[in-house]
Amino acid sequence: MSKILVTGGTGYIGSHTVVELYKAGYTPVIIDNLSNSNIKMLEQIEKIIGIKPEFHQFDLCDVEQTTAFINDNPDISGIIHFAASKAVGESVQKPLKYYHNNFFSLINLLEAYQGKKINFVFSSSCTVYGEPDVLPVTESAPVKKATSPYGNTKQIAEEILEESAAAYNNYNIIALRYFNPVGAHESALIGELPIGVPQNLLPFITQTAIGKREKLTVFGNDFDTPDGYCIRDFIHVVDLAKAHVAAIQLLEKGNPNGKYDVFNVGTGNGYSVLEAIKAFEKVSGQALNYEVGPRREGDIVKVYGDVTKSSKELGWKAELGIEEMMSSAWKWENYLKENPIG
Ligand code: WQD
Repeated sequence: MSKILVTGGTGYIGSHTVVELYKAGYTPVIIDNLSNSNIKMLEQIEKIIGIKPEFHQFDLCDVEQTTAFINDNPDISGIIHFAASKAVGESVQKPLKYYHNNFFSLINLLEAYQGKKINFVFSSSCTVYGEPDVLPVTESAPVKKATSPYGNTKQIAEEILEESAAAYNNYNIIALRYFNPVGAHESALIGELPIGVPQNLLPFITQTAIGKREKLTVFGNDFDTPDGYCIRDFIHVVDLAKAHVAAIQLLEKGNPNGKYDVFNVGTGNGYSVLEAIKAFEKVSGQALNYEVGPRREGDIVKVYGDVTKSSKELGWKAELGIEEMMSSAWKWENYLKENPIG
């Protein structure tokens, strides 16, 4: 049973990926420094899969610990690298924190594997496309200048990976460009655990509906879209987790496209913020308290992915729709109310 290292494995997407890896027959091993996640997620994962995954708490920016861990674990055949700082707004306030965390961890991992064969899946983002000129956006669309240090770390990390795959013959790499991950595991035992006030739409919606927030402010409804609201490609986190398993499987088989490749991970469907709110209201059976406020600086107006390449070459396709995304997120928020974590 192949061992797959999941960095950031107690986080939102990481924890769902650990579950899907295990279900697909892999042995996931987690490294997380718990800077933005809770150790209790390990028990939550155990409630789903029946075993507590191997867990190591340290910071991948620590080169000695990272190198020692890799040397001590030669049976790891693949890495899914989630561990990174990811708050767009904070990255503008603290760019050095983002460049430090996101690059040192990546470079330490790559250097620790120099001369050793490794399959590597990187957590990238549709943020690299900026405001796309053509929709749905394909993987060959130009990468636009990043609008935040966070976005810049994803762009530069992709370059580091592409150049490393070309220069050394031991890395086989796939970067997955996520659109907007939402929802939770159907068991409602794992899901997103935002620290403080949520910056993203879905946790803000569910926290408002449960009464933790007074109301949702929608950032503008006068955009050049059919209903005036921004459009996003929301993707269920369980589908997203499965895309990582598919990426590992493709790397194991040998990717005919070469040693470095990128894939869009979305549904291919764009929903407006208003449509998302309406879908939430429908599945929760309650009206959401929201008001329309001013635009948020830097927001993309509309983005959704072309998923032809993912479905043909990665052999992966999203299966869950907007209602499953909303209902699972709502079920998770209700679970948290009864069973607070953190
Ligand atoms: C979605 C829509 C907001 C909150 C995120 C990441 C980005 C990338 C993609 C990873 C927008 C609106 C939101 C609120 C609102 N992911 N909104 N009120 O902006 O697409 O970006 O996903 O790399 O880095 O930040 O997601 O959930 O913040 O916003 O009206 O309180 O919801 O304006 O139109 P976004 P989001």
